Amino acid sequence: MKGIILAGGTGSRLNPVTIAVTKHLLPVGEKPMIYYPISVLMFGGIKEVLIIARPEDITQFQRLLGDGSHLGLSIEYAEQPRPTGLADAFVIGADHIGDDSVALVLGDNIFHGPGFQNLLDEHTKDVQGCVLFGYGVKDPERYGVGETDALGRLVSIEEKPLRPRSNRAITGLYLYDNDVIDIAKNVRPSPRGELEITDVNRVYLERDRATMVDLGRGFAWLDTGTPESLLQASLYVRTLEERQGVRIACLEEIALRKGFIDADQCHRLGEALGNSGYGQYVMDIARELSA
Ligand code: G1P
Repeated sequence: MKGIILAGGTGSRLNPVTIAVTKHLLPVGEKPMIYYPISVLMFGGIKEVLIIARPEDITQFQRLLGDGSHLGLSIEYAEQPRPTGLADAFVIGADHIGDDSVALVLGDNIFHGPGFQNLLDEHTKDVQGCVLFGYGVKDPERYGVGETDALGRLVSIEEKPLRPRSNRAITGLYLYDNDVIDIAKNVRPSPRGELEITDVNRVYLERDRATMVDLGRGFAWLDTGTPESLLQASLYVRTLEERQGVRIACLEEIALRKGFIDADQCHRLGEALGNSGYGQYVMDIARELSA
């Protein structure tokens, strides 16, 4: 399975901080926001990642992540000059996907909760059709909304409905089989000229090939689009990290635990981060897991 992170967009609700820096590189806790979606793909065992971003932001992503080889990944970059809709990721990324299946994560979505790794293992193995992840929210009208019947089967998908049929928001993590490329190429653009992901998902639903997995209570799906939600996400991450002495979305640790790199490599990555608390943690984990 291939991975795509969509990190375009202007982040205008965060102005003025996003005038000079893309939203996806702002800190959440002590890490750049994009670490969180990268960690999601790594949890799913995905090593080949395409980051789609505005042309002017790509060099900054490259400075941070390079070609990903230090993490045992292969990271490539593609340009999205204008916001052309989430589903355009499959057109821009068609060569990257090749004849494989694909996971798309939105670059500003943060997922954290017990059992997430197992859930991803289970669903990334052999994707048939599309797999969406639903999450109960109090303001579903702000999102794509999925409705299920009494047996848990998905029966409708709507984008930002005025009167939502359920409280289940469709989160920014999507798994697809290879048909997604053709489907995305053939959906009709919205009046604003964008390829809507909800239209792609609806084609899968019409073919009876869409499922929605519920992320459940106790799981955190966090928004980072406004100053308040960005601060809340930082506080959530730091609260758990400080209390438990762990790091959420520490890419070096995940790479080591997944066997993408060895303990020596991990330790060197920690050393390179100097005297930061994060770097110290990476070195501690490398020592702990090599013992
Ligand atoms: C997009 C999708 C929406 C989805 C949301 C998740 O909305 O269109 O269906 O629920 O991402 O973050 P946007 O954030 O572009 O308004």
